[in-house]
Amino acid sequence: MTLNAFAEARRFEAVVAVLDRHGRDPSKLIPILQAVQDEYRYLPEEIMTYVATALDVSPAKVYGVATFYGHFSLEPKGKHVLKICDGTACHVKGSGALVDALRSELRLEGKAKTTPDLLFTLETVSCLGACGLAPVLVVGDDVHGLVTKDEALRIVRDIKRAEASDGGN
Ligand code: FES
Repeated sequence: MTLNAFAEARRFEAVVAVLDRHGRDPSKLIPILQAVQDEYRYLPEEIMTYVATALDVSPAKVYGVATFYGHFSLEPKGKHVLKICDGTACHVKGSGALVDALRSELRLEGKAKTTPDLLFTLETVSCLGACGLAPVLVVGDDVHGLVTKDEALRIVRDIKRAEASDGGN
């Protein structure tokens, strides 16, 4: 079994465990999808179909819930998710320049949000409630306030260096 196939099998086992943990109860669809997304970093179509079958609901219902909540992603996300606040205060304080600088650093083209190597996803989000710290950049669970372009680039380059040195582990 290749490393990828092994990782896939392990993830799939995790989905089965999530379903079992929730008693395959259709009323637990949201926490189930949340746990699946935690595992895959998005909701793969074939896994949503599997969840629908396991819960004995229609795939359309699962898909409907997944698309209704902005929190769920149907697209693969990078290992590191960068969120730049584009609320009014952050916008006024230059969040647009941060987005441009990071998109260029990550070589994101067109409407792409995720790098082809699935290392980074760059998103803009609405007000994070920390306007006093505008502009705000969130990297994973870390909130960086009063971020300059240089600082944002340094953060991303540090992550790239760490990933290159440990092979992504
Ligand atoms: S506008 Fe960015 S935190 Fe409020």
